[in-house]
Amino acid sequence: MLSPTNMDPTKILLDCDPGIDDALALLMAAASPQLDLLGVSCVAGNRPVHTTTANACALLELAGRGDVPVHAGCARPLALPEARTNLVHGEDGLGGIAFAAGPAPRQEHAVDFLARTLRDEPIGTLTLIAIGPLTNLAMVEIREPGLLRRAKALLVMGGAAFCPGNVTPAAEFNFHADATAASVVLNAGAALTLFGLDVTSQAAMSADWIASLGRLRTRAGRAAHAMLAAYAFEDPLLHDACPVAFALAPQLFDCRQLHADVERAPGPDEGRLRPDADGHGPRFELATAVDREGLLERVHAEIARLA
Ligand code: BDR
Ligand code: CA
Repeated sequence: MLSPTNMDPTKILLDCDPGIDDALALLMAAASPQLDLLGVSCVAGNRPVHTTTANACALLELAGRGDVPVHAGCARPLALPEARTNLVHGEDGLGGIAFAAGPAPRQEHAVDFLARTLRDEPIGTLTLIAIGPLTNLAMVEIREPGLLRRAKALLVMGGAAFCPGNVTPAAEFNFHADATAASVVLNAGAALTLFGLDVTSQAAMSADWIASLGRLRTRAGRAAHAMLAAYAFEDPLLHDACPVAFALAPQLFDCRQLHADVERAPGPDEGRLRPDADGHGPRFELATAVDREGLLERVHAEIARLA
């Protein structure tokens, strides 16, 4: 979002696991002149971390932003032996579309990169957007407690507060993939706004809207259209674009304050976001509603900027 005082673009870091809906979020973040994308960190989530990292590199190349540094991060959740991946986005995570490989990722581990950038940027200037399992962010907070509080805003896609989950009846994918990390991040006391299924379930892409991306006649438009056409669902949801759209146009969303924590224990409730009516537990903003038409327009407009 443009700051009213100096109109400088908002400095952002994007932590992601591309993933088709991550891909749209990443293309928006790379395209928007309102955002200054300082770097992309990757985590195991939709696919293993080497795949999500290669995908981020390829997507930035597609966006003409091979200059943005990409860092590979954690390969498995904090308290589990292996990543909980899925095949919703295809074996390669991007719907089987052939992308040109981008520049190689940097050597520095994503957790080191995130921590260094949070330390180096003045307090209250960085917006940290996280659209995969929260393992990298939790590692930052565990290693240096208080570091996440240096961010101006922490915008997270994850959880399901007042609706069923999408990977188990209790849990949303990103929170289930690393419930311990989700709890660590919620408890960090950062300026957090959460975009869970409560709001992203309102963000359905229509077939017409997907077709309109194909009509852009740009490389990015055609790639976005092809990825979405390969998605395994009817009317798929724009989960990960929501926090990026919020950074650009917060007026599209309604939010309310919530106290809630994440169930860490293995079992049927693992990853459940548990609201606490008595006002205990971590407090944050929960996005509750989105202007769907406005969101679709905004995502389209940002992707349309790309060649
Ligand atoms: C989340 O899970 C992933 O499959 C998507 O990329 C999104 O981040 C939605 O539950
Ligand atoms: Ca994701």
